[in-house]
Amino acid sequence: MVFLKKLAAISTLLLGSTQAYENGLGLTPQMGWNSWNIYGCDINETIIIGAAEKIKELGLQDLGYEYIVMDDCYQLHERDNTTNKILADPEKFPNGIKHLADSIHDLGFKFGMYSSAGRYTCGGYPGSLHNEELDADTFADWGIDYLKYDNCYNEGNSGTAQISYKRYDKMAKALNATGRPIFYSLCQWGEDNVWNWGSTVSNSWRISGDIYDHFDRYDDRCPCESYECLGLQGYMCSMTNILEKAVPLGQKAGTGQGWNDLDSLEVGNGGMNYDEYVAHFTLWAILKSPLVLGNDVTNMTDEDLGIVKNAQIIEINQDLSAPAHRVWKKSVKGGSLQLFATTLSDETQIVAIFNSGDYEEDTELLFEDIFVDDLTMKNKSYSGKELWTNETSTFEDKISTSVKTHSIKIWKLTEAN
Ligand SMILES: *[C@@H]1O[C@H](CO)[C@@H](O)[C@H](O)[C@H]1NC(C)=O
Ligand SMILES: *[C@@H]1O[C@H](CO)[C@@H](O)[C@H](O)[C@H]1NC(C)=O
Ligand SMILES: *[C@@H]1O[C@H](CO)[C@@H](O)[C@H](O)[C@H]1NC(C)=O
Ligand SMILES: *[C@@H]1O[C@H](CO)[C@@H](O)[C@H](O)[C@H]1NC(C)=O
Ligand SMILES: *[C@@H]1O[C@H](CO)[C@@H](O)[C@H](O)[C@H]1NC(C)=O
Ligand SMILES: *[C@@H]1O[C@H](CO)[C@@H](O)[C@H](O)[C@H]1NC(C)=O
Repeated sequence: MVFLKKLAAISTLLLGSTQAYENGLGLTPQMGWNSWNIYGCDINETIIIGAAEKIKELGLQDLGYEYIVMDDCYQLHERDNTTNKILADPEKFPNGIKHLADSIHDLGFKFGMYSSAGRYTCGGYPGSLHNEELDADTFADWGIDYLKYDNCYNEGNSGTAQISYKRYDKMAKALNATGRPIFYSLCQWGEDNVWNWGSTVSNSWRISGDIYDHFDRYDDRCPCESYECLGLQGYMCSMTNILEKAVPLGQKAGTGQGWNDLDSLEVGNGGMNYDEYVAHFTLWAILKSPLVLGNDVTNMTDEDLGIVKNAQIIEINQDLSAPAHRVWKKSVKGGSLQLFATTLSDETQIVAIFNSGDYEEDTELLFEDIFVDDLTMKNKSYSGKELWTNETSTFEDKISTSVKTHSIKIWKLTEAN
């Protein structure tokens, strides 16, 4: 164990200093809000500032939700015919983007925007392919702190890691050349095994097509439930579809490397019930996905707010430790039981059991499975706090429990004396 830990420390050090994309950002997964899931193209100045004000008022800013990200459709269809710069739509943004960025900064947030590594954005507005330097300068002049960079209309510049890498690296270099630290968030849908090269060029990388606000709905437009899927990355990806793609990729993420982005959260958008949203939020947190809200924050129920405000779950996401790994997955009627584990930097152990099946399931979580990386830990007794109910129990050898359908339970284990 000591050896393993040393190895982990050394590789973090090396990656942190020599291999990862260096802009001083992304030491932990980014947190914030993005306009796309709820508003799509119907955005304007009032909506973006209103969301930021509300996020502050609700106490979410204090919990770490820091980036306000305006997604696609802020532009005019034509670039400026003399400077060739991207132009903001003056009807939606009567005071311009600089004013918007200033307003967001005045509220204590960082401001994010969007473009595509293609001829057009996904919404059909001017993309940044072949205009990387010009657009990076425009974004920096506007005062942005974050760029989500999409993959639509890429003119066929994909298909191998090398081709995709070059296209995304061009913007990475352009952002760096502005001199402004700008969080660089790839939205390349997991094409060309982005998790193998994303860390050398960015702070985070999407691993799948767009999320769809449903627990497990099958859809041909998001084919295949494994990271091994090649070809169509699709959209309309259910929460559990993305989970399956994400689970084996945890080893590709970390402090000094960057983050697998499982896409913005759907909590508050109404397509899942309370237990399902709790599972969605918990899984995204322990796999160290960015925690980016994607809902109408001006009209949240107390239940939904309670989910995204659970500081104990956020703390795991923001801890300087590795993403959780899946210890086992067992078939049950209608789905599976999945055991996850990870050790936090203070040496406490996190254990989560997720039931995607149709019925409540009784199960035993054996310490010999949970502590497989350090079996000397398995004979000790632990005080375990369940992080949604806050009930504390003492456990020896195992946790015997039952999990409701479409639910998760998660404990933090501390050695009992
Ligand atoms: C640009 O890159 C260099 C070296 O990779 C790094 O040290 C520097 O902090 C970067 N600057 C910005 C603004 O990202
Ligand atoms: C350039 O854009 C301006 C303002 O949008 C417009 O008035 C002008 O006609 C355009 N010029 C050309 C050559 O398209
Ligand atoms: C933005 O949209 C909202 C909702 O449609 C509307 O109430 C508001 O006036 C709009 N603001 C601007 C600046 O267009
Ligand atoms: C707020 O949410 C409720 C139910 O969740 C919905 O019925 C209502 O239309 C929403 N109001 C606004 C202004 O969006
Ligand atoms: C348990 O504690 C967390 C973090 O303080 C809190 O968000 C959550 O609401 C609590 N749960 C209950 C049932 O009180
Ligand atoms: C744990 O306990 C079992 C029996 O209770 C024993 O056989 C085993 O050697 C112990 N393992 C460690 C690592 O202490």
